[in-house]
Order: sequence, then C-alpha cells, then structure tokens
Amino acid sequence: MLTACVLTYCTGIKNIHKINYMKTIDTLHELLKHELKDLYSAEAQIIEALPGMIKKASDKRLKTALKEHLDVTTKQKDRLDNIQEMLGEENNTQQEEKKGFFANLFKSKEGEEHCKAMEGLVKEGKTLLKEDMTPEVMDAGIIAACQKIEHYEISSYGTAKAYALQLKMQKVADMLNETLNEEYFADDSLTKLAVGDVNLHAETAKSKTVSKKEKVRNNKVKKEEPAARPPRKAMIKKAAEKAVAKKAGVQARTSVKKGTAKKKK
Ligand SMILES: [Fe+2]
Repeated sequence: MLTACVLTYCTGIKNIHKINYMKTIDTLHELLKHELKDLYSAEAQIIEALPGMIKKASDKRLKTALKEHLDVTTKQKDRLDNIQEMLGEENNTQQEEKKGFFANLFKSKEGEEHCKAMEGLVKEGKTLLKEDMTPEVMDAGIIAACQKIEHYEISSYGTAKAYALQLKMQKVADMLNETLNEEYFADDSLTKLAVGDVNLHAETAKSKTVSKKEKVRNNKVKKEEPAARPPRKAMIKKAAEKAVAKKAGVQARTSVKKGTAKKKK
C-alpha cells in the first residue's frame, strides 16, 4: 500500500514537471530561447559583479584582464540582444509570459528571467571579497571565482551554439561562437596568470604574513617587558646603601629598646 502511494506520488511529481515542460518548452527552438534568456541574465549579473572584483584585485595584470573582460561582457550582452531580435523576441525578456518548469528555474523572486546558477556563483565571489586575506591570496581567489563563472558561460554558450547549429541557424551559431571564443580566451588568460606567478605569490605571501605577525608580536612583547636592569655597579651600590640603611634602622630600634629598658629600671 505504502509502495503504491509512493509510486503514485512520484509519478505525480514526474507528470507535473512533464506537463509544465510541455506547456511552454516543447521544441528545441523554445529551449534555445530559454538558454539565451539565461545567458542574458548571467551576463547582466557579471557586469554588476566585475567592478567589485576589479577594485579588490591588486595584481595589475589581473586588474587589466578583468577590466577588458568587463568591456567584452557588455558587448556580449548586446550581442544576445541582437540574437533575440533575430529570433523575433523583444529585447526586454520580461515582457514574455513566463510559465513552466524551465521558466521557474530562471525566474527571480521579482518574477524576471533570472539565472539562479550565476546568482550563486556571483554570491560566492562577493563572499570571497569580504574575507580577510593578503592581497596576493585574494588575487588567487578572484581568479578562481572568475573561472567558475567562465566555465558556466562556456558550458551554456557551447550548448546554445549546438542548438542553433541543430536548428540550421548558422548566423546565430556564428554569433554565439564568437562569444564562446571570447570566454575561452578569458579563461585561458586567467589560467596563465594563476599558474604563471599569482598562485606562487599567494603561497609565499603566507610566510610573509607569518613574519609580519611575528614582528608585531615581538614588538608587543618588547613594549610589555619591564624596564632594563640598571648596570651591575649601580646595582651593587644600591644594595650596599640598602644594607647600610637597614643596619642603621636596626641600630636605631636597638637604641630605643635600650632607652626604654633603662627607664623601666
Ligand atoms: Fe560573458
């Protein structure tokens, strides 16, 4: 009985997805349009996120590479606009009715077409920027965050290009391929920077940090140490004076005692 219920439940879920999927995306053409909307949202989110990465990067070559890719990304977003026009879509993807399984995947809380995968990657990148790191380690982290983003884009543009080719949309495929090559180039540039010397600098920066910390700790200990001992001669003199003073005190007390004893007699 329980098995039957579970089976019915699972079949129900499967059917819900199937029904929603069939409602809105029942052709490869529709799937391509959804992939393009996802990419459009992804590019928009990257344009918003890259300035923060550029600001935080300290390696000049990394800064330059990210700035250049920001310009390229803006052009890629425009290219997607042109492709959507070619596909007979309005530039503003929000105008289209949004229903179905895939639409829900790309939809934000506000109801816009929104790439949730890119939202996660960007969020992870922003969290990284808030971490307490040396500039060198931060650079290595920024490269890693950007490459995760690049790999998502490479995967998505590759898929979209394959759909376009399958649909005999050569012009669209060529435009998507242009972007795909730009993403490959960006990814390769970041790899070269990382394995070139950024990762090495991140590794050596750790030991530098330790020495810096040690320096700070040593300075602190020095400050907390008691005042330096006076020279040995001065110490001997002081001890002698103390002994004389003590003896004098004892003598004084003895005299007082003797005086008191006499009075008693
Ligand atoms: Fe891109």
